[in-house]
Amino acid sequence: MRYHNFASVQGSCTYARPERLGPATDTLASRLLITQLEIRWNSTVLKISIKLASLYFISVIKMDSPIRVRYQTLEVGSVDIHVCTLRDIKQFYDPDGAAKKMGISSATWPLFGIIWPSSLVLAHFMADYDTAGKRVLEIGCGIGLPSLVLNKQNADITATDYHPETGNFLLRNAQLNNSDAINYQQVDWADQTRHLGQFDLIIGSDLLYEDEHIKLLARFIERHAAPDCKVILVDPGRGRKNKISVKMEKFGYRNTHIRPDDTSYLDQPFKGHILKFKRKGEQRVN
Ligand SMILES: C[S@@+](CC[C@H](N)C(=O)[O-])C[C@H]1O[C@@H](n2cnc3c(N)ncnc32)[C@H](O)[C@@H]1O
Repeated sequence: MRYHNFASVQGSCTYARPERLGPATDTLASRLLITQLEIRWNSTVLKISIKLASLYFISVIKMDSPIRVRYQTLEVGSVDIHVCTLRDIKQFYDPDGAAKKMGISSATWPLFGIIWPSSLVLAHFMADYDTAGKRVLEIGCGIGLPSLVLNKQNADITATDYHPETGNFLLRNAQLNNSDAINYQQVDWADQTRHLGQFDLIIGSDLLYEDEHIKLLARFIERHAAPDCKVILVDPGRGRKNKISVKMEKFGYRNTHIRPDDTSYLDQPFKGHILKFKRKGEQRVN
């Protein structure tokens, strides 16, 4: 009976040392049973401890990942935008293989995490753009500087990217700027099942660096474009601006390629273009 009591106490996780049980338990059989219970108890405690230790280890890794970051304040028009970015494009951290599953290699992993010159050009362009009453979509946003600028202006902005870390940086950066969180959607241009609704203005920077992106991007834009949608893409001169223009023409867009007025905010002269696409509802090509 005492043993049962002892076992049930063990079962409810209250540790009782055997010597406290007194003389009635002092037999070889009872000692063996108590030893077995102790071993079982100790192994359960050990298993729980190992689990807790590994959870702690994982959380420590997550809180203190080996990614190195950089903080800077960028002046865009009349506003200062504070940003936390990756320190450089040597950073890589994909412990769960989440990025790998999406086809993001260690070489392309960090591309989202710095502010590319085209992003600065787009952010400056958007700083003076009238977005009143417009639903705006930034695609392949990465750090999302243009979205941060538009968010400061209370524009109706949705930022998107497929990288698993982009949403975390966007949230952090909205907080750094004392702004509301930006509506963010993790979506792959290739995913034809996702639909985020229709937008009046679609913007993006430095997205034309792979041939296979051209078709995916044009289709993604088409799926999310309102009938009178305007599209603004900034390309740093990666040699694919005519290819995207041809694809977009098939969806009824006329295009103009302009050079940004003044890019003195960049370290190097900007060799690229701002690609503007415009469509009237009735010109839509199926
Ligand atoms: C060169 S970075 C440019 C980032 C940002 N727009 C800038 O200019 O700083 C390209 C961005 O496109 C995103 N991207 C690449 N392929 C994508 C895809 N299939 N679907 C969605 N985003 C993609 C990457 O994650 C990355 O953030």
